Amino acid sequence: MPAAAPASDWIVLKFGGTSVSRRHRWDTIGRLLRERTEGDIPEQPPARVLVVVSALSGVTNELQAIIDQHADAVDVSARIEALIERHRGACAEMEVDAEGVLGERFAALRALAGDRRGVSADLSWQAEVLAQGELMSSTLGVAYLRTQGLAVDWLDARDWLEARALPNQNEWARRLSASCAYIGDDELRMRFDRNARLLITQGFIARHPDGGTAILGRGGSDTSAAYFGALLHARRVEIWTDVPGMFTANPRAVPDARLLSRLDYEEAQEIATTGAKVLHPRCIHPCREARVPIWIRDTERPDLAGTVIDHRAVTVPGVKAISSRRGIVLVSMETIGMWQQVGFLADVFERFKRHGLSVDLIGSSEANVTVSLDPSDNLVSSNVLDALCADLAEVCRVKVIAPCSAVTLVGRGMRSLLHKLTDVWSEFGRERVHLVSQSSNDLNLTFVVDEALADGLLPRLHEKLIQSGAMPVDATEVFGPSWRQIEASASPRRVSWWQRERSQLLGMAAQGTPRYVYHLPTVRERARSLAAISAVNCRFYALKANPHPAILAVLDSEGFGFECVSAAELEHLFAVLPTLDPTRVLFTPSFAPRAEYAAAIARDVWVTLDSVYPLQHWPELFAGRQIVLRIDPGYGLGHHEKVRTGGREAKFGLAPESLPEFIAAARATRAKITVLHAHVGSGILDASHWPQVYAQLVELADRIGTVAAIDVGGGLGVPYTPDAEAFDIAAFGRELANAKAAWPQYALWIEPGRYLVAEAGVLLTHVTQLSDKLGLRRIGLDAGMNALLRPALYGAWHEIVNLSHLDEADGTPADIVRPICETGDMLGRRRALPASTAENDVVLIATAGAYGQVMANRYNLRALPQEEVLDD
Ligand code: LLP
Repeated sequence: MPAAAPASDWIVLKFGGTSVSRRHRWDTIGRLLRERTEGDIPEQPPARVLVVVSALSGVTNELQAIIDQHADAVDVSARIEALIERHRGACAEMEVDAEGVLGERFAALRALAGDRRGVSADLSWQAEVLAQGELMSSTLGVAYLRTQGLAVDWLDARDWLEARALPNQNEWARRLSASCAYIGDDELRMRFDRNARLLITQGFIARHPDGGTAILGRGGSDTSAAYFGALLHARRVEIWTDVPGMFTANPRAVPDARLLSRLDYEEAQEIATTGAKVLHPRCIHPCREARVPIWIRDTERPDLAGTVIDHRAVTVPGVKAISSRRGIVLVSMETIGMWQQVGFLADVFERFKRHGLSVDLIGSSEANVTVSLDPSDNLVSSNVLDALCADLAEVCRVKVIAPCSAVTLVGRGMRSLLHKLTDVWSEFGRERVHLVSQSSNDLNLTFVVDEALADGLLPRLHEKLIQSGAMPVDATEVFGPSWRQIEASASPRRVSWWQRERSQLLGMAAQGTPRYVYHLPTVRERARSLAAISAVNCRFYALKANPHPAILAVLDSEGFGFECVSAAELEHLFAVLPTLDPTRVLFTPSFAPRAEYAAAIARDVWVTLDSVYPLQHWPELFAGRQIVLRIDPGYGLGHHEKVRTGGREAKFGLAPESLPEFIAAARATRAKITVLHAHVGSGILDASHWPQVYAQLVELADRIGTVAAIDVGGGLGVPYTPDAEAFDIAAFGRELANAKAAWPQYALWIEPGRYLVAEAGVLLTHVTQLSDKLGLRRIGLDAGMNALLRPALYGAWHEIVNLSHLDEADGTPADIVRPICETGDMLGRRRALPASTAENDVVLIATAGAYGQVMANRYNLRALPQEEVLDD
């Protein structure tokens, strides 16, 4: 890397389309400019600022449409007038005189419509049309900021950025996907310095060698900013966008993705190239060469420290990001005849070159070469592919595999990380991987899979990378907060009942912890929201979630029946509610002994069978009775694989293929299948699942002929994280109503557990000890995995708050650990509690009302938690 000249006092700021489309955003820009020119940032002397702007959002697409429609004069002129109107609107919002500020630009735009070059869509004409968006937005910005008292001047980017021809570049690319020189000398800088302190210029455009306009192509404005940064040896280039920086994964797909606070150029380049949309990969190289740091910041959240990319970033080996690129096309080429034939690769690649296709990944064996084509580098239309395949067929057998996604792990030292990736391999193990490629710079490892699989894979892989230590998120110099945390801190959180009842809860905790507390009004409220769904004929509470007598009593009075899984649950239920009508009780055991079925039958409750074994081996129990048949619809759903109860690997339910055998056995015993049932798992948030199951079971019920009711199970999810969406109960109601309207002949039953009680329960604990080992903080609690098993068993996430210091600011993240002698006895990793957290503080674990106390145990001979209820 060349030694860089000392930085000048220029800072380059780039703002994209959404950042320049609205007045309040321009106010933010104005504030940022003042801070930088007046030296308001601590330890940053005043700077000169060059602002690079994109066109208002959507405008470049409109200009492209004008080019595409060039043959239709009426359409072109209508589009131009619409664009002018759009800019007039922006002027009105910003209270500047549209004609006075943009009149000349409007005239230039109209003139382009009448330009003779437009008839043939000449490339130079196209470039000029495309340039109009930035020319207008930059002019408008100057006018507005002047009204706000900023002494800002307009600069024509084409006077400074010169497009240069590259070898292998065709005319189109030279004009519309140009590259520029970016090595500046002192003379250039001196000339530039004669300009004012504060300038606004255009992204995306440059000067063509013929004196006309050239366009920089995709990511153009970022690249313009980088060119200016390099030419001026700027202090830094700031890319202002709509996310706070680069993340370890696309935060919209992986909410636990972490902000990458600091990266070196190579890693940033790799992350940008392999899928992160936040920064165009082309813009890194000029800054890297000139050693100009790049900052990525969020215009909506200007005070949030984003990502800094520079050559001083500390080198932390490990995976920094996981990304995916869609639309990848694989071309597999089998040599005909000879193995390792000399010149085979040359023959093949010559044909890719002929079609203007650049190859991305390569895998090879003696007789096969498979390569990938990335649509962001290539125009991979079906015409081009067909022509390529026809040509390749002359030298090999060709197969195209598409659409695929390339899933890439990026980070330094990939080769020395392989041993940590065992769990990651196992995630891929289930899917078909078409190609694996490890980059020769040791910075990435890429897997090409079917496109449909990639989206679901990313969150799971991300979690595994953290758990295995391959992504070293403890390195706080590199890894910042998660997207979830950033979002949660921005949006006002829901107020939970336990915040309102804080003082009561503190009093209860003083009686001893660990202690579960259940808020009965919340249980009632959930029960009523389900009761309001008219499509449902019967509701059963799955009491395995929480069999506390007070909860059973509340749900009984709200009209719920009950679902039990064991004879002991049945006994408990009838002990609590001795007068309960047995037809309101379902018994849904799994591989239970004969005696439990006998006990249930003796109580005359509904008994569910999910295999033919009980009918064949204990026919006397079921003779002449009505039975419930549990079907396995062939798939499982839910928050963790351990709670998914469908599909071949799950022990539950009868496969529809075995229905004839079951019906025969039922006939033989004169048992009548009256209810069909399915429950595919727990913690499902997609409301369309239950109507789908209903539809599936209706089909079987129609075949059986004796069915009167269909039980679509439970499994309704709840939000465990503060920012998670609540279960969409309205959509659930609507969807079930549609299903019921389609097949009204069957009664519809449901049997939720968690939904009714999870949010109604909290676990109170006390802080026992604090420690700091090798820089890693730990906070100990007195409730172990014996008291709340879910985090250890499923990696479940529960909110943890210090109830003694509820509203205090968070301190350094700590691992929340517990007293059981197992490393797995961890309640939460890297959780931020108030800095003042101390021994004997009361810590509350939220959303613990379902599968909490009922799964508690006496491991290490610790006592079971206490339980208490709160009611109005
Ligand atoms: N019906 C049947 C047949 C079930 O097996 C279950 C739960 C339910 C209904 C109620 O599902 P819910 O609405 O609560 O999701 N211990 C795990 C959950 C295991 C669920 C077992 N079966 C956890 O803590 O997440």
